[in-house]
Amino acid sequence: MNILGVETTCDETSLALVQDGVKVLHETTVSQILKHRQYGGVVPDLGAREHLTNLQSIGDEFMREINDHKIDAVAVAAKIGLPPAVQVGEAYAAGLAKSLNVPLIPVNHAVAHIWGTWIDQKFETKPEFPFLGLIVSGGHSQIVQFDSPTSYEVLGDTLDDAVGEAFDKVAAMLKLPYPGGPEVEAMAQLGDELSIKFPIPLKDDDTLNLSFSGLKTAVRNYIAAEEGKYDEKTRKFFVGDVCASFQLSAFTAIANKVLKAMQETKIHELVIGGGVACNQRLVDVLFNRIGEAHQFDLYVPSKQYCTDNASLIAGYAYNLAEEI
Ligand code: KG4
Ligand code: ZN
Repeated sequence: MNILGVETTCDETSLALVQDGVKVLHETTVSQILKHRQYGGVVPDLGAREHLTNLQSIGDEFMREINDHKIDAVAVAAKIGLPPAVQVGEAYAAGLAKSLNVPLIPVNHAVAHIWGTWIDQKFETKPEFPFLGLIVSGGHSQIVQFDSPTSYEVLGDTLDDAVGEAFDKVAAMLKLPYPGGPEVEAMAQLGDELSIKFPIPLKDDDTLNLSFSGLKTAVRNYIAAEEGKYDEKTRKFFVGDVCASFQLSAFTAIANKVLKAMQETKIHELVIGGGVACNQRLVDVLFNRIGEAHQFDLYVPSKQYCTDNASLIAGYAYNLAEEI
């Protein structure tokens, strides 16, 4: 079954044709990052305008490229995301589905990130249901129990800033460009993650929720107090220490809650997804923190399918298609 995916929820305009939920036959993704960088983050109305322009410029070419393939359904990232941007994709996908005379499958973008893990990858094993999903993106930090593709329960939710959002804000405080996650990860290599003791968010909290705004404020206060002590030459080590120490606190908070979720649910299979899943330190901290207490299986998407694209939308929709 071939599903055509449409993704416009944030700053990527993406179209993809995916076979049986895992094999990408064709994908075109245009990033708006450079357009938003000057504003230090995504501007929703600018994003919506850019999606319209991008869809016009890539749409016809994309349809020509996939001309030889049959299309069984159109999937679109719906509801979750920046409203004006999401609406552009929804309208475009509805038009496509109508003109192709195939069903339209609206999907939850955040949940689709978990299904991005199977795209173009060869795992020796796959988790059985139920498994735990960790969604770590610019908009979400969630721990979700999946009993099936459509039956899932959010065990722990984003209380304030999502973890990717906190990375973007910390990067901005350090004058690193948007999106901040990859910049913070790169600068952290220069630093010592044990050099600054930032708080570990919700360390003694009883829930599985995640919060990063207190940590963000602690980083802001530290930068304000210490920044002046460094000159141009030594500044990169200051930035490195802040990035590395921030990263360790954020990821320890996540690992603590995932460990708690595993203890409570007795489920030891974890699938991660979303832009922050690109970060190697997250994977290491999860192994270090949880591996000591439990044997567990971790499934991580390939870097390309951590961040937003239409392949993961089509990939998840394949699992919903039998229900429509
Ligand atoms: O999943 P995604 O592409 O978009 C949303 O659905 O939000 O995630 C984007 C987020 C941004 O906040 C970005 O800074 C973060 O993922 N990100 C990272 C890394 N790469 C992207 N965060 C930490 N480390 C990275 N290597
Ligand atoms: Zn996303």
